[in-house]
Amino acid sequence: MGFAERLSAAAAATDAVLKTTLEPMRADGRSPATLVDACDYALLGGGKRFRPFLVIESARLLDGPADAAAAVGAAFECLHAYSLVHDDLPAMDDDDLRRGRPTVHKAYDEATAILVGDGLQSLAFEIITAPPVPAEAAGPLARLLARESGLAGMVGGQYRDLNALGLDAAGVRLMQSMKTGALIRGSCEAGAIVAGADDEQRARLARFGALLGEAFQLADDLLDLEGTAEETGKRVGKDAEEGKATIPQLVGIPAARQRLAETVATAADELAPFGDAAGTLREACRFVAERRS
Ligand code: IPE
Ligand code: IPE
Ligand code: MG
Ligand code: MG
Ligand code: MG
Repeated sequence: MGFAERLSAAAAATDAVLKTTLEPMRADGRSPATLVDACDYALLGGGKRFRPFLVIESARLLDGPADAAAAVGAAFECLHAYSLVHDDLPAMDDDDLRRGRPTVHKAYDEATAILVGDGLQSLAFEIITAPPVPAEAAGPLARLLARESGLAGMVGGQYRDLNALGLDAAGVRLMQSMKTGALIRGSCEAGAIVAGADDEQRARLARFGALLGEAFQLADDLLDLEGTAEETGKRVGKDAEEGKATIPQLVGIPAARQRLAETVATAADELAPFGDAAGTLREACRFVAERRS
């Protein structure tokens, strides 16, 4: 299987877990139907599923169980989707378009969008603490998810992003490593945990993920400048308009492109000890550098 097939296989496995998770909520007599619909809207129907792909491929690299990896990948997708729903709110980036469709607060309303984010966050922890995730992995995974999504991770990075005026390159890098890098790094590390990796393998995959995550946000910032709404499924040109602190804005597009290429190359170097088995993750580096959506 080539990279594209692996990515769509990860997406299919993720969607299957997400559907199976949402379905019983429609009949539990407690979860409000509209809120479940809005969670379904936020989770399904778009998205590259790049974080689940990283969990699944990191676990596969170390011969971990595929069903548990798919569940953990779906949990990361819940956290990611929650971050997007909140990121788009009027109080944050105030965006109307996401994954080629109206944002959740536009399709529903703001209060619903806030509760969708809250609900998806809880759902992530419900998924990783239940079978088929091995009981002995649940504790370490819960700690990892909490750390990477919390104040020292995604949420802290989002706060830094909203208060980023006047940041220098080091400040922007820290913000990016938190708002986007943390969940991507965590996805790679989670794959290692699911597979029962040793400390050295786990640390190596985490370093790979951190570099890949940094590159991923750099590419996102370049797409905001160079991409189209048709390709990305979201409004572009907004970072410059809002005076957002980004690397391309600080150093210019050519230097930012150069840095993106160097960062993915350094990420790929981390995979060297895994040899040919890491071919798909190596291709993920190229995907991040070249992606148009
Ligand atoms: C967008 O993430 C937000 C960032 C963290 C840069 P993705 O580009 O992975 O968005 P989807 O999941 O494919 O929609
Ligand atoms: C998003 O950064 C980071 C998170 C959602 C955590 P952006 O604000 O640049 O993402 P997009 O461009 O809206 O997807
Ligand atoms: Mg944002
Ligand atoms: Mg945004
Ligand atoms: Mg962006």
